[in-house]
Amino acid sequence: MILGIETSCDETAAAVVDDDGNVRSSVVASQADLHARYGGVVPEVASRRHLELVVPVVRAALEDASIGLDDVRRIGVTQGPGLVGALLVGLSAAKALAWARGLPLVPVDHLRGHVATLYLAPDPLDPPFTCLLASGGHTLLLAVRDRTGFEVLGSTLDDAAGEAFDKGARLLGLGYPGGAEIDRLARDGDPAAFSFPVARVPGLDLSFSGLKTALLYAVRDLSASELDERRADLAASYQRAIVRALVGRLRAAAAETGDLALAVVGGVAANSELRSTLADARFAPLPLCTDNAAMIASAARYAPSIEPPGYLGLDAYPSV
Ligand code: KG4
Ligand code: ZN
Repeated sequence: MILGIETSCDETAAAVVDDDGNVRSSVVASQADLHARYGGVVPEVASRRHLELVVPVVRAALEDASIGLDDVRRIGVTQGPGLVGALLVGLSAAKALAWARGLPLVPVDHLRGHVATLYLAPDPLDPPFTCLLASGGHTLLLAVRDRTGFEVLGSTLDDAAGEAFDKGARLLGLGYPGGAEIDRLARDGDPAAFSFPVARVPGLDLSFSGLKTALLYAVRDLSASELDERRADLAASYQRAIVRALVGRLRAAAAETGDLALAVVGGVAANSELRSTLADARFAPLPLCTDNAAMIASAARYAPSIEPPGYLGLDAYPSV
């Protein structure tokens, strides 16, 4: 049994995954409500909340899996990238638990964690495949050749796709986090109502900042009542532009790698239009698209573990 712990952003998560990749439990305590009033994650607030939640969440994950700490053979924990204060809470908790039990610790890269969602039972995906990782913090095109890592083929030059959704939602007066809200509202809108530019950047990179500005101008041109009337059309058109950009880049990346399989992971993989547009791609299961610890425990199966006390000096890293 592997215990996974994830605290890189605003979700406090713990999970138990067995050696065959079965998810025995996955507990996610979201802090979204806490940060909503600020329109985004406040790092210091996130760290403090992680501190309160990490022990009860680990306890709940063990309980849900009907196991005790005695049954845990190693602990996987997110080391980075993410908010450094938030990461340190999970990393310190994992070190303490592992040290107290004489267990090995596996430091896990959060992005590899998202990809490792695809290696979970009951239907694990075997590399090689071309993968789009689209979350609130990152948007990457990856060539995945084995389960231990990946090669980065392209990435966003400015905002991440999830960030574009969140900023767009804010401009439309929707709640935070905005991706799911735009997704919901877009179903009632006309995606062709507004024409938003999809930035053309060289290679396999992406850019979303121009799109956000285009939405800002479109919203500015409308009166409050017009905005109310057209909000769903704006959401649908904006979402269409993001989805088009992502799909275009994933297909271009696949053409370059020659891989057959396409895969999509990360919070934005929950988007219904992206899922229906890429009918031939493998998506992370819906509950495991956004941050969770099952993906971290999954990645820990393919990363080197460190015996005690070797991990006590490990530090978190904030960026890729
Ligand atoms: O992977 P994740 O939980 O966190 C990071 O590692 O960043 O991704 C969160 C992002 C947020 O930006 C959120 O708005 C977006 O995923 N998201 C969505 C949807 N559900 C979550 N974006 C579009 N459509 C959705 N249904
Ligand atoms: Zn994430």
